[in-house]
Amino acid sequence: MTERTGGQDPVLEVKSLTKTFSNGNGAEASEILQGVNFTMYPREFVCILGPSGCGKTTFLRCIGGFESFEGEVLVDGKQVSAPGVDRIMVFQDFNQLLPWKSVEKNVQYPLRIQGIKDRRELQSISDQYLKKVELYPYRKFYPHQLSGGMKQRVAIAKALAMRPRIILMDEPFASLDAISRNKLQAELLQIHQREDITVIFITHNIQEAICLGTRILVMSKQGDIKMDVPNRLQKPVTPASEGYGQMWDMFNRALNEATDAPSEETISSGERHTK
Ligand SMILES: Nc1ncnc2c1ncn2[C@@H]1O[C@H](COP(=O)(O)OP(=O)(O)O)[C@@H](O)[C@H]1O
Ligand SMILES: [Mg+2]
Repeated sequence: MTERTGGQDPVLEVKSLTKTFSNGNGAEASEILQGVNFTMYPREFVCILGPSGCGKTTFLRCIGGFESFEGEVLVDGKQVSAPGVDRIMVFQDFNQLLPWKSVEKNVQYPLRIQGIKDRRELQSISDQYLKKVELYPYRKFYPHQLSGGMKQRVAIAKALAMRPRIILMDEPFASLDAISRNKLQAELLQIHQREDITVIFITHNIQEAICLGTRILVMSKQGDIKMDVPNRLQKPVTPASEGYGQMWDMFNRALNEATDAPSEETISSGERHTK
C-alpha cells in the first residue's frame, strides 16, 4: 500500500548547499550556510542542535524550498527548488492554523488543495490523524479554543495527513511549558515508532534531541556540521537511561564549542592570536 519501502536509497541529499543573504544597497552579502552536505535515509529522525543564528532555520527553509540557494537538494534523487507536498514544515509558531477553520477543516484543507474532493474520504483522513495526536474529541473546535500544545498537535496531524516524504520541524515545542512539551515528545516518539515517517527536527534542547532522535547533529556557524552521531539509546529514553548522562555531556560540550567557534575570518587570522 505504501510506496515507502524503507530501502537503502537516501530520501534526502543536500549537496554543497550555500546560502547568502544580500544586505541590500550593494552592501556585502553574508554567507549564512557554506557548502553544507547532508544525507538522510527513510525513517530517520534527525535532530539538529546548534546555537542561535548558526543557520538551522535557513537550512530547513532551503530544504523546504522557501529560499533560493546554491548547491543541490534532492528528494528521492530528484532535484527540488520550490515548496512541495513531499516536504511539509511544522513551525514553533502557534499561529500556523487557519483561525476561521475548525480543527478538522484545518487538517482537511491542504488535502482538498491536493485534489481530494470526496467529503467522506476527507473526513476519514482527518479523523484518522486527529486520533493519532489524541485530538479527535476536539475536531469541531476552532484554534482559539485550543492550548498552544493542542495547536501544535493539530499542526502535526495536518503534516502527517499529507503523507510527505520528509517532515521538517523547526523547534515545534520550544514555546510550550515543560509538561506539554514532555507529552508532545512522547506522542511524537510513538508516532515515529508506529508510522513510516522521516523527520528533521530542530531543537535547542539536548534532552529533546536524545529522547526523539535516531541521529543527532550539532551545527555550528555557517551550517558547519560539527557532530553527526547515531543515537542508540533504547527508546523511550529518560534521564535515568544507561548512557544518557554521557550523551548529554558530549552534546553540551559540542554545543559550547559550536557557540564559541571562531568565524572563518578569525580562523584565517588566528595565527596572530597564538603565543
Ligand atoms: N531573510 C533574511 N535576511 C537576512 N539575514 C537573514 C535572514 N534570515 C536569517 N538571516 C540571518 O541568518 C543567520 C542564521 O539565521 P537562522 O537560520 O534563523 O538561524 P537559527 O535558526 O540557527 O537561529 C542569522 O544571522 C540571521 O540574522
Ligand atoms: Mg531558528
